[in-house]
Amino acid sequence: MITIDHVVGLLSDIEDPGCREFSIGVGDWPFNGFVVRQGDDVYAYQNYCMHAGHPLNWQPNSFLTKEGDAIICASHGAMYEIASGECFAGPCRGGALRKVAVEIRAGVIYVGGPGTM
Ligand code: FES
Repeated sequence: MITIDHVVGLLSDIEDPGCREFSIGVGDWPFNGFVVRQGDDVYAYQNYCMHAGHPLNWQPNSFLTKEGDAIICASHGAMYEIASGECFAGPCRGGALRKVAVEIRAGVIYVGGPGTM
């Protein structure tokens, strides 16, 4: 059974559209991810660009294009669909972000860990 018990925060605290980073675990290799809010929907991904294996962002909680219509990698500009995580432009076109299980319960966003991808 998948456990989805890591609290990211309140949906209402995230801009629409907007993002929030999360980290699960301690030490040198925590699992880093982010959620994207789009209206009442939330998507969660590992913070890892398929192209070169870097985190996607340079600025905290910043994963979207200026228009807020896609996820963009700050390194070389790969662009990913918000809802599917599929890369549609840039060096990893045809690849996809790793999804993380996510749920909203009573307005609170919960994610699973690496085993829930
Ligand atoms: S490292 Fe992400 S697009 Fe190049």
